[in-house]
Amino acid sequence: MSISMKAAGPDTEETVAQGAGARTVAPSARIKGFPFPFRDDAYRYSTNVEPALQAVQTEAGGWGERIIDIDADYLEELGQRELVLKKDPTRMQLMDHMRPAVWDAIATLLPLMASMYPDTMRFHRDGRHCRWRNELQGLELTFVIGEDASLPMGPLHFLGSQIQDDIVLMDQREGTLWLDAGLVTFAADWSMGFDVGMRFLEVHGPVPRVHEENIITRAHQFLLRLQPGEQYRRTNWTMTVDRRLDTSTETYPDWAKDRTLVVSDPALPDRLHLRVEVQHLIKLPTSGALLFLVRTYLASLREIAAVPAWRERLGKVLEELPSDMAEYKGIDRYRQAAASWLLGGE
Ligand code: HEM
Repeated sequence: MSISMKAAGPDTEETVAQGAGARTVAPSARIKGFPFPFRDDAYRYSTNVEPALQAVQTEAGGWGERIIDIDADYLEELGQRELVLKKDPTRMQLMDHMRPAVWDAIATLLPLMASMYPDTMRFHRDGRHCRWRNELQGLELTFVIGEDASLPMGPLHFLGSQIQDDIVLMDQREGTLWLDAGLVTFAADWSMGFDVGMRFLEVHGPVPRVHEENIITRAHQFLLRLQPGEQYRRTNWTMTVDRRLDTSTETYPDWAKDRTLVVSDPALPDRLHLRVEVQHLIKLPTSGALLFLVRTYLASLREIAAVPAWRERLGKVLEELPSDMAEYKGIDRYRQAAASWLLGGE
């Protein structure tokens, strides 16, 4: 399957639909592949883990056929990642014992990408010697699996320069999973630098409800039993003001105040975005580490409103969401304003 980098410009179809109200626009290319996460008019946490690679049809199009999804925002987002990393190298963490896991992730993902995007990507492997070609970046290079010096920027940074996903690697030992490596530039209000070295259950410490409801302990048990090569996924969501991918704890002073300011801004429908993460969980075949990929998608309320079923559903979910969950997600200040806009009142 070839990708449509040129054809799928984000705004190519954003024309006002004939005869529709001023708020309705035709779905953009971005919206067609958007992983709208709600199956109901109310949202609660659950152990929502399912096998990867299942195609999901939505009212606007579909998603889910690929583990690595490359879209029209590829180069732009990778450019942002480089800027974030340059400013704050702590977004990349690598404990020494995780080096084999990083190579395992590279050896797993590059062939997958080449098979999904044969028009632009090629991977060839002969023993430990590999050749990688990525025409979207005008890149062609060779490297040796296991030899860090064979990739000038280092293997983890290299992997993060090829995929839009944030990358986390969990080590499995002493009956638990340890967050011992990762490259996370687009965290939804958490910090790679702070979480590195933590156990799975500690990482989820701040999340409300999931402990009483045993959601995290059940997910933990499930992940511990994964077999090499198994691939699962789940979605998660929150909201973000503007198309800001970097909402890491480190940049809190840059984005936190917008959550209040946006409420009285007439541009609210264009500034407020539904932020959906498609998270993949892959038990790596050689190292036994668990690869956790987080791909973040943003769609503004106005883009969402182009799909009537989504407009109504998101409006109802936001209106109904219990306050502890809204507070944890950091959306409590503006979610009623968002719901009112979506459900009718301008
Ligand atoms: C091994 C892979 C995983 C890692 C590394 C991970 C990491 C994280 C992190 C860092 C957060 C933010 C916590 C904070 O506020 O500081 C989070 C939130 C959360 N995680 Fe995970 N997670 C993983 C897998 C899962 C799984 C399998 C579930 C299944 C139930 C899950 C459920 C949640 C939930 C419900 C939240 C709260 C999200 C929100 O309301 O925005 N996680 N996770």
